[in-house]
Amino acid sequence: MVSFWDLAYIFRPPWDTDEPPVQLTELIEQEKLKPCRVLDIGCGTGTNVVYLASRGFDAFGLDISRVAIRKAKSKAARDNVNCRFYRLDFTDPRELASVGLPKFELLMDNGCYHSLSPVERNRYPASLLRVSHVGTSYLLWCFLRGSGPGFGPPGVDRGEVEGRFSKNFRVLEQRELETSSGTFSFSRWTGRVESTKPIISVTKVTKCSNLCCTVR
Ligand SMILES: C[S@@+](CC[C@H](N)C(=O)[O-])C[C@H]1O[C@@H](n2cnc3c(N)ncnc32)[C@H](O)[C@@H]1O
Repeated sequence: MVSFWDLAYIFRPPWDTDEPPVQLTELIEQEKLKPCRVLDIGCGTGTNVVYLASRGFDAFGLDISRVAIRKAKSKAARDNVNCRFYRLDFTDPRELASVGLPKFELLMDNGCYHSLSPVERNRYPASLLRVSHVGTSYLLWCFLRGSGPGFGPPGVDRGEVEGRFSKNFRVLEQRELETSSGTFSFSRWTGRVESTKPIISVTKVTKCSNLCCTVR
């Protein structure tokens, strides 16, 4: 059966703008983010991964949609950049383990987490820890719940991200971003989270991480 995401990517979904988010490009242009190993979670058609690879990052992307990953690989080939893409469900520990991803200095999620069901959201932090190490930063963009047009992703409640990750991470920075998408305007917020305590990962390795979260 064709999944919702595959169906969306057969066409051109509204979020697939072919432009990396301005908060990301600013951090790179201002050299606040230096080239490192980066993973884009729910990378869609690979816009951010290809952009980061073109800026010297060792860039990886994963997505649950086969169609999106196929388009991402074509985009990387078109732009002649080296990056790696995986089709998998980030919230499924077996799928995540099956590809043997390394640990990343930088993680990002532009619109995946805020699309997830409550059950998937509960599983997400363990997956995040699996691919992070001490000092890992994390950028997250989400819609605030209720700020959109009434259809689309459920979004996140104020305080949800800090709450869900607070066992191991803390917010370094948060911003709300007012943007528009077509005729709709959305509230956005951003945050940066860093670890406060050691954590036990799903692989039983003691570590701690920084979580830098930018939420839209
Ligand atoms: C709103 S789209 C954003 C895509 C991309 N980040 C962008 O900005 O264009 C959300 C993405 O998350 C992916 N996704 C949803 N659930 C996922 C999961 N459990 N694991 C991996 N990817 C997932 C979808 O296939 C989709 O590409």
